[in-house]
Amino acid sequence: MLDKVADKAFHNDVVAGLSLPQKAIPPKYFYDERGSQLFDRICDLPEYYPTRTETSLLSRIAPELPDRLSDVAHLIEYGSGASRKTRIVLDALPQLKSYVPMDISEEFLLGVADALSANYPQIDVVPLVGDFTAELSLPSAVRNGTKAGFFPGSTIGNLGPEGGREFLARTRRQLGSEAKFVLGADLVKDEKVMRAAYNDRAGVTAQFNLNILSRINRELGADFDECSFHHLAIWNAEQSRIEMHLVSEKAQSVTVNGQCFAFADGETIHTENSYKFTQATLRALAESAGWRTEEIWIDEEYPFAVVLLAAA
Ligand code: SAH
Ligand code: AVI
Repeated sequence: MLDKVADKAFHNDVVAGLSLPQKAIPPKYFYDERGSQLFDRICDLPEYYPTRTETSLLSRIAPELPDRLSDVAHLIEYGSGASRKTRIVLDALPQLKSYVPMDISEEFLLGVADALSANYPQIDVVPLVGDFTAELSLPSAVRNGTKAGFFPGSTIGNLGPEGGREFLARTRRQLGSEAKFVLGADLVKDEKVMRAAYNDRAGVTAQFNLNILSRINRELGADFDECSFHHLAIWNAEQSRIEMHLVSEKAQSVTVNGQCFAFADGETIHTENSYKFTQATLRALAESAGWRTEEIWIDEEYPFAVVLLAAA
C-alpha cells in the first residue's frame, strides 16, 4: 500500500485536507479513469453549457487561427482530457509538427493520444503525464520552434486567482518568449444557468463528485460510505465561483489508512471551485502573469471567452 510517490502525495493531500477546519480535497483527484469518463459525460449534458459553447466559439474563430498562429510549430494542451476541442485547432494549423496532450489522468490520456496519432499521422503526438500545478519539463521534441499553449474548458477557473496566476506565469516561462496561448474561460452569467450546469437532472455531476470518495477508498485504504454523503453545488456570489461539496448525511467517522476523521451531521468536504470571470478579471489575470492580450472572442448567448495571449 502507498508504495508509489504519487500515492504518497495523494495520501498526504487527503489527510491534510481532511484535517482542515473546512475539510477539502484538491479537485485534481477527481480524475482517475472513471472520473475522466464521467467528466466526458458531463460535457454532453444539456445543462453543461461550457463545452458546447466553447466548441462552437472555437469553430467560429478557426478561420482566423492560421494567420494568428502562423509561426507555431508545437501545441501543448494542459488538462487535455478527451482532446475533443483540440481537433478544431489541429485542423486549422496544418503546419504543426507536434501536439503534446498533458494530463494527470494517465490511462485516459494514453488512450486518447493513440486515437489522435491514428487520426493525425502527420503530427507527432507526444502525451505527457503530469500535474500542471507543479513545475514540469516539456518533451525534447518541442525544444526548438515556437510553441503555443492551449488551456480550454475553463479549467483555469478550478485553480483559484492565485493558482491561476502562478499557472499562467509558469507556462509563460515554459513556453518561451515567442509563445502564444489560447485560453478558454467561463464568464459570469445568469445564476440559474450556472447552478443548473453543476446540478444536472441525470445526476452525472453528483456521480463525478462522489467518485472521489470511491477513489480514496480504493487507492488509500479508506472506508467512506458513499451512500451517506451527497453532492452539493452552490453559487458563491462574493467569490464569483461555483463551489462543489460532499455533505455528510449524519455524524460519522471515516478511516483513511488507519487515521480517523470525524464528521458532524451536515458537515461538508469542499471538493472544487469553478471561478467565473469577467472580461476585465480575465485580462488582468493573464496580464499579471506576463502575457499580453491579443484578442478576446466572446459567446454572447452563454457568455464564455476564448482569449489569444502572446508573451509580453
Ligand atoms: N480540456 C478538456 C478537459 C477539461 S477537464 C475540455 O476542455 O473539455 C479538466 C482536465 O484537466 C481533465 O482531463 C483532468 O484530468 C485534467 N487535470 C485536472 N487537474 C490537473 C492537474 N493538476 N494536472 C494535469 N491535469 C489535470
Ligand atoms: C474541468 N472543469 C473546468 C469543470 C468545471 O466546470 O469546473 C469540472 C466540473 N465540475 C463539475 N462539472 C464539471
